[in-house]
Amino acid sequence: MNPKNNYPNVLLNEDWWKSAVFYQIYPRSFYDSNNDGIGDLQGVTKKLDHLNDGNGGGLGIDAIWFSPFFTSPQADFGYDVSDYCNIDEDYGTLEDFDNLVAEAHKRNIKVVLDLVLNHTSDQHEWFKESRSDSTNPKADWYVWADPKPDGSQPNNWLAVFGGAAWTYEPQREQYYLHNFLAEQPDLNWYNPEVREALADVVRFWMKRGVDGFRLDTANYYAHDQELRDNPKRPPNSRPLEDGQEANPLSSYITKYSKDRPENIEFIHYLRTIFDEGNSIVSVGEIGSSEGLDETLKLGADYVKHGDGLHMAYTFAMLNKEMNAEYFDHVVRFTEDMIEDGWPCWSLSNHDCTRMMSRYNCFYEREGFQQMMLLLLLSLRGTPIIYYGEEIDMEEYPISKEEVKDPQGIRFWPEIKGRDGCRLPFPWDSKASNQGFNKGAKPWLPAKNTVTLDKAVADPNSTFHVLKEMLTIRKNYPALQIGNFREILIEGKCFVFERKTVNQTILIAANFSVEEHHLKLPVKVDQDLTPKALKRSCTINNQQLVLPGSGYFVGKL
Ligand code: NOJ
Repeated sequence: MNPKNNYPNVLLNEDWWKSAVFYQIYPRSFYDSNNDGIGDLQGVTKKLDHLNDGNGGGLGIDAIWFSPFFTSPQADFGYDVSDYCNIDEDYGTLEDFDNLVAEAHKRNIKVVLDLVLNHTSDQHEWFKESRSDSTNPKADWYVWADPKPDGSQPNNWLAVFGGAAWTYEPQREQYYLHNFLAEQPDLNWYNPEVREALADVVRFWMKRGVDGFRLDTANYYAHDQELRDNPKRPPNSRPLEDGQEANPLSSYITKYSKDRPENIEFIHYLRTIFDEGNSIVSVGEIGSSEGLDETLKLGADYVKHGDGLHMAYTFAMLNKEMNAEYFDHVVRFTEDMIEDGWPCWSLSNHDCTRMMSRYNCFYEREGFQQMMLLLLLSLRGTPIIYYGEEIDMEEYPISKEEVKDPQGIRFWPEIKGRDGCRLPFPWDSKASNQGFNKGAKPWLPAKNTVTLDKAVADPNSTFHVLKEMLTIRKNYPALQIGNFREILIEGKCFVFERKTVNQTILIAANFSVEEHHLKLPVKVDQDLTPKALKRSCTINNQQLVLPGSGYFVGKL
């Protein structure tokens, strides 16, 4: 055994994450075991079999990314951490956590935690000390700056959740930086003591047996130390992220407040800490507001050369735009830019409108969603399924009275926030609160249009299609680790190959409502398309007939 690897881990395969299928759980909304209206860790443990029971039952996923459950005042529902090394009482205890890890590992499910290392809560002891005066030992642990001579903020930077990115602290007569809420002060990554303290957080969880980390806002750690103003965005360019047009931040290019070149150095440092562990994976969130290609390039830069992140995701597939040309461009451009890096794909998460309600090209919702999920599982790169996608959960039209997300509260009604994609998971149509708990009022309404029991009862549901595809993926290594080669983009159809030395798999998808007839440049030996898929294709020699929203996978 490599002597530097002192941490427990279940799999010896270092690159397990390349062939794994991830599933994101928003713990507040998964299952509420103690009936207090909030999902919890014991609840997740109880429901692990839905994801993978270790014996072929359940969806068959391999890893869970948990949105944060650390101690937090919940100003941003856990993305404001006040103690990195403990569990918030809303979610349970460290014992519950250890039990969850043990139960997950029994089922061969890896556990990936969400580390929010750009900022803490303003209730974190570090910040309480830092804000108390300018000479305390933690005085330089956050980003402090003097007011301008007229008393105003140090520069024009805006916060993602509204207002200036600076809040005045009378005790220090200075401003502190917060790219998100004022309750989320940014840590000063330029201070080596801060980096070491964060490294100890990583070590704490590695010792407890976790398998990896999702890094929140991984491109925000560095800021321009001269604090230069962000430039105005040219009128013809628009930010990439879904639904953010009404946010004043979108009128600026955030050149100086994030995406700094030295940010990558901080990531290199973190990578050395991850490498102390055993087969630890890191997945960075690279939320860039720049154009599509710049964003994809930035995401790719973070994962090259084996000394940065293992994987990163951008918002390229999480925005409104979707059609064959767009999909093709995102995939091809990523493949061109990423060199020795490994892609990572998702179609939804807790920050954007659910896929079912978002893409601007939906014709037949169910069929299109199934096709997109199948494509997600066919691309080169690690797929992340967002909880509820397996049953077609839709965006809930949240009302002003129900809104909980600070972004929705701040920007209502132009931006309604992210509650609509965070509803309690609907386990059972016949139970109270759709089976989320035993009847206590859930933190968000349990008003989904779909439920798991109905999806399981329908042999053609997305649940069965996905489950089947996950098995196909496991049986065909080319679908997990094979190279990617686009072979045809014709009309609204997208055809590509995944290839290892011994195996070639062909995948075709039709982004339109019309049936398409394609003449494939290769001969398919075996049709592997999931049987649960209603929109069936026919293949005859090299002639493929793809119905609207059709998907085909076959072995050459
Ligand atoms: C990105 C997270 O995904 C989002 O939910 C959170 O509000 C911000 N980072 C701030 O931590």
